[in-house]
Amino acid sequence: MFLRSDTTCPWSHEIEELRERGLLRTMPLVNGMPGRIVTVNGRDVLNFSSNNYLGLAGHPDVIHAASDSAQHYGAGSTASRLIVGNTEIHRELESFIATWKGTEAALVFGSGYQANVGVLSALADRGDLIISDELNHASIIDGCRLSRAEVKIYPHLELGRVEDFAKARGYRRKLVVTESVFSMDGDLAPLKDLDEICHRWGAILMVDEAHASGIMGHEGQGLALEQGVVPEIQMGTLGKAVGASGAYVAGRRSLIDLLTNRARSLIYTTAPSPAVCGSALAALKIIVSEEGAERRNRLKTNVGIFQELLACGPWARPNASHIVPILIGDSNRTMRVSAKCLSKGVFAHGIRFPTVPEGAARLRLTLMSDHTLEDLIKAVEILLEA
Ligand SMILES: Cc1ncc(COP(=O)(O)O)c(C=O)c1O
Repeated sequence: MFLRSDTTCPWSHEIEELRERGLLRTMPLVNGMPGRIVTVNGRDVLNFSSNNYLGLAGHPDVIHAASDSAQHYGAGSTASRLIVGNTEIHRELESFIATWKGTEAALVFGSGYQANVGVLSALADRGDLIISDELNHASIIDGCRLSRAEVKIYPHLELGRVEDFAKARGYRRKLVVTESVFSMDGDLAPLKDLDEICHRWGAILMVDEAHASGIMGHEGQGLALEQGVVPEIQMGTLGKAVGASGAYVAGRRSLIDLLTNRARSLIYTTAPSPAVCGSALAALKIIVSEEGAERRNRLKTNVGIFQELLACGPWARPNASHIVPILIGDSNRTMRVSAKCLSKGVFAHGIRFPTVPEGAARLRLTLMSDHTLEDLIKAVEILLEA
């Protein structure tokens, strides 16, 4: 039995309002392998919208490892990590991550969202202070809210304001939290400066390396390593450059022990599947290998070429990163430009409020190591036309 569509719907006005403001979202249907070309709504188009920066989601070894792990441990993990959901492959993955990151231990979560919400709500409470960049990801914002700590938001990358907030006394614990490569702008956080501020004022630094894991650092460990910083709490995702799914937190053994006892998004949920852990492990092994270095280099080359190509257009020079925002402003206009790009064969997803601030809608283009020179030229030509 279905509810009839002509009966009064309690939220129809909300849907209508979203539509009028150009904020109504729908899910494009994607088929086939997630490479530089994807099939979107039945058509093959150039993919400039995925976080599969190194192309590992479609790598044969990574796919093979997923099926191998499923064969060995089953399709699902069947319970929480703390009950019967914790297999050898979970352990192996965490031990690999800890060695790779140079930390005492690591803990794998089902997603980056779960990791951020879990860490922040486990480590901060009433009487604590969280100092957070205004452009931090929704999962950090939600973690701050859940924690019940006092939250101070600083204007994007404004270190002076971080220092002002960090000086405050009377809190049990102070935590500064930032992304390393910002997900919607592609700019980099000055982690060394943030680390120094934290040391000066007795605060803890938490860095979300979602968009730097696999890409920055000599073996893809992230931006912190590249900048010579060892944050107390290092979070990264396994579903972007790593090409699988899930996330990790790396740090001291005691941090991991505390999270195992307090992070509700780890405790009260089914463990990531063995297939996910197996594929993430296989991808990380590629990331630290020569092949990984070669993929990182190709991505870096593409970033340089794309910057040069964009310099011919009417856009502000973008940051030198694999995330390239093309700021448009108005949501409706952004979605029209995005649709035009798609109709011409380039998937350049439009990003709107509340993912970005109101009036800052944009196309968010992402580069892959697998993009060819022709792909990059075609994307810029179509952008110019659209
Ligand atoms: C900076 C940042 N942190 C966390 C997340 C959440 O990661 P996941 O997609 O694994 O939940 C994302 C992804 O959208 C992100 O961009």
